[in-house]
Amino acid sequence: MKKAFMLLMAMVMMVMMVAGCGGGEKKPADKAAEVPKVLRVGTEPTFAPFEFQKEGSKDFDGFDMDLIRAIGKQLNMKVEIQNMGFDALIPAINAGNIDAAIAGMSITPDRQKAVDMSDPYYASGLVVVVNKDNEAVKSVKDLDNKGIAAQIGTTGAERAAKVPGAKVKNFNTNSEVFLELKNKGVDAVIIDKPVAEYYLAQGGGKETAKIVGETMEAESYGISLKKNSPLTAKINKALLDLKKNGEYDKLYEKWFGAVKK
Ligand code: ARG
Repeated sequence: MKKAFMLLMAMVMMVMMVAGCGGGEKKPADKAAEVPKVLRVGTEPTFAPFEFQKEGSKDFDGFDMDLIRAIGKQLNMKVEIQNMGFDALIPAINAGNIDAAIAGMSITPDRQKAVDMSDPYYASGLVVVVNKDNEAVKSVKDLDNKGIAAQIGTTGAERAAKVPGAKVKNFNTNSEVFLELKNKGVDAVIIDKPVAEYYLAQGGGKETAKIVGETMEAESYGISLKKNSPLTAKINKALLDLKKNGEYDKLYEKWFGAVKK
């Protein structure tokens, strides 16, 4: 009787061990499933040289696009980029439709309330752009009661709204913003300095537009993610690694020329 009981116990223990092993095998597989393999990224691609689509192409090009792909490589994630309205990016993050947005998005207290923002990756600022033949507007101070175009939901639009008496026209894309200036639908545009410079150098504004006055509002760009996302720390680490290994400098040089040290 005792023997039979011992035998039974031994059998039960063996079954438990096998089951235990099986459980142990399952765990790593489950864990792997938890770590997303794809990074779904949103952007608004009328913001060269940070994000744009070459004429007739759906491919995303620019500094931000290279940077997020390099970050994806660091994190072993496949980067999938989607085109959306600039003012739709933060709602899309919060709805869970995308994991991150990279769009030359300035880090502001309001945005930091709505989403996580990564460490800064680019130092920027706003400028006023007018038509070349405009001699009346020499800085933002000359814009009172004038017409100003800006992209909807941007810090440029916010700055324009603060100009006393200004008639602000907000557009979905920066292509429309610059076109409105060219067509003299407005007196000025308020937009990010590197984007204005790129437009004047090679974006079609050379003949018609110019930057006036000082750079306003120092702003830094950050990548936005869902509040308390575990990805935020990972992206910050990847950014730091890319700065350390020289990859960030390479990209900076590719899009902006000499690296500021
Ligand atoms: N830096 C400005 C902001 O954060 C403008 C960004 C516009 N970006 C874009 N991809 N259209 O509001």
